[in-house]
Amino acid sequence: MSSSGATVLAQPLDLPCGAVMPNRLVKAPMEQVLGKFMGGKPNPELLRLYEAWAEGNWGMIITGNVGVDRRYLGLMFDIVFPDPGDTKQYAEYLEAFRRWARVCKGQDPNDSRESTPANQGKRPLAVVQVVHCGRQSTRGAGRAPWKPAVAPSAVPMMTEGKQTTSDKLIFGTPRALSTEEVQDIIQRFVRGNEFCAKAGFDGIELHAAHGYLLSTFLSPMTNKRTDQYGGSVENRFRIIREIIEQTRQRVPASFAIGIKLNSSDYIQGGLTEEDALQNVKWLAESGMVDFVEVSGGTYEKPAMFNEAEVPKQSDRTKRREGFFLEFSSRCHTVLPPNSKMRIFVTGGFRSRTGMADALRSGNVSGIGLARPASMDPALPKSLMDSSIPDDDDRASSPQWKAPPPPRFMPKIPLAGAGWNSLWHSAQLHRIGYGLKPDPNLSMLSFLGGLKFRD
Ligand SMILES: Cc1cc2nc3c(=O)[nH]c(=O)nc-3n(C[C@H](O)[C@H](O)[C@H](O)COP(=O)(O)O)c2cc1C
Repeated sequence: MSSSGATVLAQPLDLPCGAVMPNRLVKAPMEQVLGKFMGGKPNPELLRLYEAWAEGNWGMIITGNVGVDRRYLGLMFDIVFPDPGDTKQYAEYLEAFRRWARVCKGQDPNDSRESTPANQGKRPLAVVQVVHCGRQSTRGAGRAPWKPAVAPSAVPMMTEGKQTTSDKLIFGTPRALSTEEVQDIIQRFVRGNEFCAKAGFDGIELHAAHGYLLSTFLSPMTNKRTDQYGGSVENRFRIIREIIEQTRQRVPASFAIGIKLNSSDYIQGGLTEEDALQNVKWLAESGMVDFVEVSGGTYEKPAMFNEAEVPKQSDRTKRREGFFLEFSSRCHTVLPPNSKMRIFVTGGFRSRTGMADALRSGNVSGIGLARPASMDPALPKSLMDSSIPDDDDRASSPQWKAPPPPRFMPKIPLAGAGWNSLWHSAQLHRIGYGLKPDPNLSMLSFLGGLKFRD
């Protein structure tokens, strides 16, 4: 009947940049699908969704991914940064992002006074996830449907170990980037990160997981380049190193830089745990990174959503919550002794006890929660309420069951994961439009009532 788990979750956490999270619960990134058609700036529905999370007592709120290039969106309704060189758009977007930052920090969006400083641990840290979708940019998302996505090399999506008809229809085959284009992308990331600092966010997180562009540079299966951005583990990591080094020169020292990384791609020939550990070591040694959010898998092997895709090495881990805990414990073996870089883990956490056990292990400093945060935006309040015993249902995320994909969808992991993810996006959509999440939501009623901004 003890409630000591609540106290473990409620411990503040300082980051190397000096910012302090009031507790250990991280609202993990979720693409909101609430933007304008073909990419746009934050809008009132998006702000309403973040208001719900800001009221929920999270330690850190990481936004859904924001694209550095509107030609390569993940889906057609993503939030993007302003286009390079368009000063009118820059000013408009900056104002919209400023309002978004204020909302994430629990402020009135119209109140331009300074918020509580990030080093006091009195409000959630507001962090933007920055992405280029690379070969997982779906056909037509930001460009004409016949125009290819871009990637380190022209390796198509192969959701069943080979390029299927649905891979061709949904993704097509990407075009390999030239060295100059890679350098342009680095500049886009650096500008996007600087833009977030100017808008008043507390930090950024590079999305280098789940098969998006940066993670395809890390993987030998998708990166076959012969220039300085391909080949050895060090060369495949170079794009990330350059983005981080250049960002650090352009943002205040108090601005947090984080990165979401795969523990492994869980695909033959893809990123291995050994290479991933090497990358974590470099990040820690750089002294420039505040946190790593550990995840795993890609659209080809959606381990981020489904524990069944993650091979387990010991019986002990089978009994624990959290898909990637085994890897996070290995991360600690490669961190330099004086490193303060924090390791967060996202994927599969549902109960206060599971989260507190992971924190007590000393291998994890923060717990990322995505789908539970779509079902209960204020979940941290009950998780950290020490008057609720650990074994009470309220000390866990709410129970829900997303409906199975319709029969006409191919029986492949991507279809199941995509459908599950869409159902959770539907919950975000509901919150954005002033409704409550609905654990019994049917996709038909959601799709029928769908509203999008023009
Ligand atoms: C609707 C939805 C959208 C997501 N969008 C993103 C995203 O933009 N960036 C990202 O890194 N992960 C994204 N994810 C993955 C989550 O951050 C997380 O890694 C995954 O859902 C596992 O965590 P969970 O078990 O707590 O849901 C998304 C997940 C869902 C359900």
